[in-house]
Amino acid sequence: MCGIAGYVGSRPSSLELYSALQRLEYRGYDSAGLVIGGDGADLQVHRCRGSVAGLSDSSRDLGKPAGIQFGLAHTRWATHGEPSERNAHPHLDCGGRLAVVHNGIIANHRQLRAELEAAGHTFRSETDSEVLAHLVEDVYEDDLVAAVRAALKRVEGSYALGVLHQERAELVAARRGGPLVVGCAEGEAFLASDVTAFIDRTHEVVFLEDGDIARLDEHSIEVFDLRGNQRSWTPVEVPWRVEDTSRGGFRHFMRKEIEEQPQVLEACLSGRGGDVVEVPEVRDLLADGVPEEILITACGTSFHAGSIAADYLERLAGIPTRVLLGSEYSNWVRAEPAGRWLLALSQSGETADTLAAVRGFRASGGRVLAICNTLGSSLVREADATVLTQAGPEIGVASTKAFTSQVLASHLVALTLASHLGSLSADELSRHRRELDGVGDLLVSTLGRTDAACREIAPGLESARGFLFLGRGRNVPVAAEGALKMKELTYIPSEAYATGEMKHGPLALVDDRFPSIVFLDPEGPNRSRGITSIEEILTRGGPAVVLTQRPVPELAGHAGVRFLQLPEAPAELTPLLFAVAAQLLAYHVADGLGREIDRPRNLAKSVTVE
Ligand code: G6P
Repeated sequence: MCGIAGYVGSRPSSLELYSALQRLEYRGYDSAGLVIGGDGADLQVHRCRGSVAGLSDSSRDLGKPAGIQFGLAHTRWATHGEPSERNAHPHLDCGGRLAVVHNGIIANHRQLRAELEAAGHTFRSETDSEVLAHLVEDVYEDDLVAAVRAALKRVEGSYALGVLHQERAELVAARRGGPLVVGCAEGEAFLASDVTAFIDRTHEVVFLEDGDIARLDEHSIEVFDLRGNQRSWTPVEVPWRVEDTSRGGFRHFMRKEIEEQPQVLEACLSGRGGDVVEVPEVRDLLADGVPEEILITACGTSFHAGSIAADYLERLAGIPTRVLLGSEYSNWVRAEPAGRWLLALSQSGETADTLAAVRGFRASGGRVLAICNTLGSSLVREADATVLTQAGPEIGVASTKAFTSQVLASHLVALTLASHLGSLSADELSRHRRELDGVGDLLVSTLGRTDAACREIAPGLESARGFLFLGRGRNVPVAAEGALKMKELTYIPSEAYATGEMKHGPLALVDDRFPSIVFLDPEGPNRSRGITSIEEILTRGGPAVVLTQRPVPELAGHAGVRFLQLPEAPAELTPLLFAVAAQLLAYHVADGLGREIDRPRNLAKSVTVE
């Protein structure tokens, strides 16, 4: 949802910013731009429609400066104003001396624009963001921090923004509702929507808080709070590695991130208990009281992980649980949160709808536990306790390793609660622990068994009109996640249903170009019912791809059925295996169709507006 980058120092700013923008592109790729200043010279501005690669060679390398250079850059996910060069950021004031990049939505931009136009300002774009440049211009004298503070008093809405003036070798940054981090290094400073942008230059970062305004030059970083008082700050060391932000020999980030899952899950497990699972962050939260009920909230892929979390919490810990989309929290007919916890799941920790739910719940006095992948994010800072998923940066817009690490972290949370509430015996708790220790190997085996098979099956699926993803029990949300992966990567409509619902409507969709992808339980009544449903599909001419952990002799000989054979695994771990196979299937179909795998059209990875 728009990426912002800024640099001040003696390196060639355009190269720094171009490389930062490439790393931030997952946040939006409708248009891009940068502005460079230095030595009081006129600002150099370059913008393009489409992805960062569209910035011309000359604009990427504007030469090595004689002295200090400073600049801002932006990659956009359009909200107000179509994706076009004129709507691309940076936006300039009337005099072309002041430039702004913005992530967020200025809610009162129409009114502000009318007032500014009446006062003689000329607008060049249709964006809400351009009002910021004119507002700052209106009050600027010789103190950019003061001008930004005064301008923002008139602004309603959310923002993370960077501002520069051609006469001043500094950047001013401000945030309210959008993520913004400052990178600290000797003789230079960095600004960005997230640390991946400058992780090759520094791991020392300052996470700006809502209401902060920061001033950066090559020697100093000053941070002012809401009331304009300078506040102290201490940089945090971010452990992410530079190589985590590159494709590392893979054609796509998504493919690399799929392959990383065995190690990611092992990292998520490590340090969390001995003979039995124990997540210290959960134990500490329990000191304030045991939850009678848990409300889970999340968006997108994280919502599907949250739905699997509900299964773990109810089955293992015996806690009544309810799952709510972040965007639906405000429609929830709620009782007071007394006795309830809110479990919020988010890869980025910046999803506006999830944060709105967290803020609403906390405002009524409830306790919030987060499962999050991003240290320093708004969610981590606002939750009462956080379980970090340790997945490392996820760049592919379609979430993969973040999802499986959220599922695993939920499992660990449920086991910790089960241990404290006594809902599982000591033997059962140590059995679960032993089973979890095999999770990395199970994923290695899943990848090994299903990759080639998915690649072979995929071409036959490319001409599908649509897909049905079907599962039972805790595999219903896995089916939803499989359908999401398929639709966002291939643009082929994909629906998910509980398998038993097929006969109540979805069966009408089935024909030879509407395949069903079925997650089949290895045993018990769900297995036999699942096989019956597959036969009903095959009888009606619908192809089926069956993900199964055991051979299915009942379906042998059916021409329309293909199998993806997964390793046998403990029941609680099967969602992870099924999810990985579904990721690979969607990946290979999308690859065969030549889709932009890491950047599906119209999407962004981090959605920081409601
Ligand atoms: C966007 C992304 C999804 C993600 C969702 C929630 O829609 O494209 O991949 O699942 O946001 O993001 P979060 O960071 O809160 O997990």
